Amino acid sequence: MSMRPMTDIATALIPDFDLTAHNTLALRARSRFAVMIDQPALLPALFDYAATQNLPLRILGGGSNVVLSSRFDGITALLALRGRSIVEQTSQATLIEAAAGEVWHDLVRWTVNQGVGGLENLAFIPGTVGAAPVQNIGAYGAELADIFHSLTAYDRASGATLTIDKKDCAFGYRDSTFKQQPNRYVVLSVRLALPQSWTPNLRFAGLTDLADATELDPQKVMERVIALRTSKLPDWRTTPNAGSFFQNPIVTTENAAPVLEEFPSAPCYPQADGRAKLSAGWLIENSGLKGYRMGPAGISERHALVLVNHGGAQQSDIAALANHVKATVLARFGIELHEEPIFL
Ligand code: EPU
Repeated sequence: MSMRPMTDIATALIPDFDLTAHNTLALRARSRFAVMIDQPALLPALFDYAATQNLPLRILGGGSNVVLSSRFDGITALLALRGRSIVEQTSQATLIEAAAGEVWHDLVRWTVNQGVGGLENLAFIPGTVGAAPVQNIGAYGAELADIFHSLTAYDRASGATLTIDKKDCAFGYRDSTFKQQPNRYVVLSVRLALPQSWTPNLRFAGLTDLADATELDPQKVMERVIALRTSKLPDWRTTPNAGSFFQNPIVTTENAAPVLEEFPSAPCYPQADGRAKLSAGWLIENSGLKGYRMGPAGISERHALVLVNHGGAQQSDIAALANHVKATVLARFGIELHEEPIFL
């Protein structure tokens, strides 16, 4: 694959690009320029071009975990790298590789349909494959790190394409080295190692009864996960949202004590380090904010952890509501919340 010269980047730029359809919050957002990246070889020329022209450059995948500014005075690169395959079958695992622009749930369905288990608990999460490692997506007792093998990424610091193994990704709860250094890497492809011998992961409350099911397979677990998500979380296609808007706060037992004294049955999950994970959704609901509206932005009536766009919202509307939620929960429970999506 040859690298396109910078002049070709200039012709590929689309001016005054509307990003409303490129973010699941459907925020009104425009970019001075946009460009489709459908081959990794375009990246070096693109970064060179942006540097020479003194234009800020940001990368956008599925737009499911971002709060976009209404006007970006630079280039938004829309990552459209496609392709997925089984690269290797060993006695231990099936090794899958998928390009960053693939839709995450399509990858989950594709593996499950072939009878390959391992991704079923992570079904129906909006977004792309490339975004999955950035925040170490997780749901229903599983997280990406459980089955992650390695990824390839373009390193803006060195201009090289690197293979990064799991041990170097610094995965944590909704966290990774890619989230810590937001402007450094562009994820190009991801490899997952799905275990050859499938063990269903049914620890999560809504899944435990499946243990009694006859002929349980990854398909049945996936269907349950989809049903759970559909029943609990608003669908971004009808009610634009970015999933959980806050992380579940992990606090010291001293900080958790006042909440648990007042509400002994409040959700509280002890962590390996002695701290406690509280439920942000519970804290928001019990601060009286479920269904609350502030202009065009609101808190979902179905799930208090999800901020929604009721129509025509911009970044400033979402930011104002998020600040109100944080201040209210802090005043009521003394607990600080942190946003999960990235403000771009
Ligand atoms: N709760 C409430 N009110 C609400 C919502 C939740 O009181 O309006 C309480 C309930 O007591 C419930 C508890 O919160 O038992 C936990 O709720 P849920 O099972 O819905 O999970 P969550 O902790 O709110 C996390 C992830 C979700 C993931 C689910 C299921 C985070 C920030 N969120 O939500 O991930 O789907 O668990 O595993 O960790 C996402 O990241 O975008 C996302 C949707």
